[in-house]
Amino acid sequence: MNLKIALLGGDGIGPEVLAQSVKCLQAVEETFNHHFTYTEGLIGAVAMDKYGSPLPKQTIDLCKASDAILFGTIGTLKYDDNPSARVRPEQGLLQLRRELQLFTNIRPVKIFPTLINKSPLKKHVIFGTDFVIYRELTGGIYFGEKKLSEDGTQASDLCEYSEKEISRITHLAFKAAKNRRKKLTLVDKANVLETSRLWRKVVTRISESYPEVQLDFLFVDNAAMKMMLDPNDFDVILTDNMFGDILSDQGSAICGSKGLLPSASIGNEHAMFEPFHGSYPQAAGKNIANPVASILSTAMMLSHFGLHEESLAVVIAVDKSMKKHVVTRDLNASSKYGTTQVGDFIAGNIIDSDENLNYNYENIGLGRSTII
Ligand code: IPM
Ligand code: MG
Repeated sequence: MNLKIALLGGDGIGPEVLAQSVKCLQAVEETFNHHFTYTEGLIGAVAMDKYGSPLPKQTIDLCKASDAILFGTIGTLKYDDNPSARVRPEQGLLQLRRELQLFTNIRPVKIFPTLINKSPLKKHVIFGTDFVIYRELTGGIYFGEKKLSEDGTQASDLCEYSEKEISRITHLAFKAAKNRRKKLTLVDKANVLETSRLWRKVVTRISESYPEVQLDFLFVDNAAMKMMLDPNDFDVILTDNMFGDILSDQGSAICGSKGLLPSASIGNEHAMFEPFHGSYPQAAGKNIANPVASILSTAMMLSHFGLHEESLAVVIAVDKSMKKHVVTRDLNASSKYGTTQVGDFIAGNIIDSDENLNYNYENIGLGRSTII
């Protein structure tokens, strides 16, 4: 398969972890005889410094002309610590999501059996955790009208949703649930918010077309608690932009390191793949960032294009790095391996995969369970 891939490293550790993903994709090309081309584009603070905009037009054009986008991370301390900055690096990412209409963000939360001891939660609570968050990504409070009074003493952010925005992601979430454990939990705040009540109405109506899927509702505060007490209770979580942002960080913490989990942002025409985690500017350039989330994002990308065997090869190589303790310091404080060494090891194992692990080959696919 030929694929044109846009590489947007962004800020902080983004370019470093993305470079490891490219290594792994090159290993996939070599092993499975594909041809991928890679073109770099600027976004975030680096783009602001060079072009005065967090999302220059060249970058939008590049993304639109690509089959897929691999994204690193965004944000720097310089802007995080300055609430009065008018333009912020994060706007680049938000604009890009909107511009490409990447309305569904898919964030799988799955425990790596080898890392079960790294979780802050007790083993018996998290054992077997495997759920996926479907987060609406181009609407809600993130994109509603923002106001600040002239004297700077009052502000508001509008949260709006239309039936159309809710229904397109809802169908994708139900389809995912159908292929998994057939349970969908809509997380909202319908006891307070009008938008949440609209979500309930639309999702309930759509559920009639998916009778094999059990639909549940949870208020977001309760869902946050349940995720800590009984994460195994979740299969597919469907939620709005803001709640999805918060719950997905919480979910990633269950796994023991934020550096492990990938995500996919999908629209009707474009698709972007990125780690869950942020730009961790304190670690930039130190060769200590965990590249696994970014590498697993490439596995999601490969699945998205139907390259399931290739995707699994990446997942197996990552799993092997953990079994062999070739991990960064977030997972083992005394590790001698850095970002590039872990990337090299994983890429090397894609080319040279000799493992005969217990994988569920029947169940390969985006957001589905492959490790058994
Ligand atoms: C995420 C991030 C972004 C978000 C930020 C960087 C704007 O936290 O992808 O979860 O809030 O969506
Ligand atoms: Mg977030």
